[in-house]
Amino acid sequence: GDAEHPRSGHFSFDSAFGAFDRAALQRGYAVYAGVCANCHSLRLLSYRNLLDIGLTEEQVRAVAGSVEVTDGPNDEGQMFQRPGRLSDRFHRPFANDNAARAANNGALPPDLSVITKARHGGANYIYSLLTGYHEPPAGVTLGQGMNYNPYFPGGQIAMAAPLNDGAVEYADGTATSVDQMARDVATFLAWASEPETETRKRMGIKILIFLAVAGFIAYGVKRKIWADLH
Ligand code: HEM
Repeated sequence: GDAEHPRSGHFSFDSAFGAFDRAALQRGYAVYAGVCANCHSLRLLSYRNLLDIGLTEEQVRAVAGSVEVTDGPNDEGQMFQRPGRLSDRFHRPFANDNAARAANNGALPPDLSVITKARHGGANYIYSLLTGYHEPPAGVTLGQGMNYNPYFPGGQIAMAAPLNDGAVEYADGTATSVDQMARDVATFLAWASEPETETRKRMGIKILIFLAVAGFIAYGVKRKIWADLH
């Protein structure tokens, strides 16, 4: 049947001038890296994109440097392993879709790069899905290995509830309830889906300021030019 309409997470970035909350983005990245990255890729992101959410270059270099990247061929025609760099795309949990399915009872964990664009409800959908697991209502029989979640189309999802209280540790000391982590990772994924949003909104504000200033100047000039003709 139809999926339940997502509940609103009341996200700050949903408004016309809204910006992403830096602290929430950093916490959301911690949730992605600590939990979701075990199964879901974010293949459109590079490590250097993490500089935009306020991680320091040192922190980002440490993240990139902790993964092994296959590069090459070198002068001898050989592929080789090296530590990741800022310009590398995010590490993928599985080599390919077959390996991903094999590790997930046949279900494919989708890439999350543009998930908030691809799904109706965007960040609210992610938030609702992650906090929406519960026992199936009477009369609903779950398929083998499936979990009840009214926000997923069909109401049954192969992904088990990925978040438990305390699943990650936050550097800023925020309490790690499921609700908090779901909210933060939804924020992070919304940013990942459109890292250029803030630039666009900031540009909009600059244009409005420019038009206001230009308007005042034009008005002043007009007054001056017409002053003598009164
Ligand atoms: C599906 C997000 C953790 C395995 C999904 C979907 C979302 C999502 C949004 C549904 C996509 C759709 O609408 O089609 C997340 C987030 C995670 C997380 C934000 C971390 C908080 C995990 C983990 C695993 C996993 C740790 C593996 C152990 C899957 C699988 C599906 C899925 C197999 C496909 C489900 C199906 O088609 O029935 N995930 N996920 N996810 N996820 Fe996750």
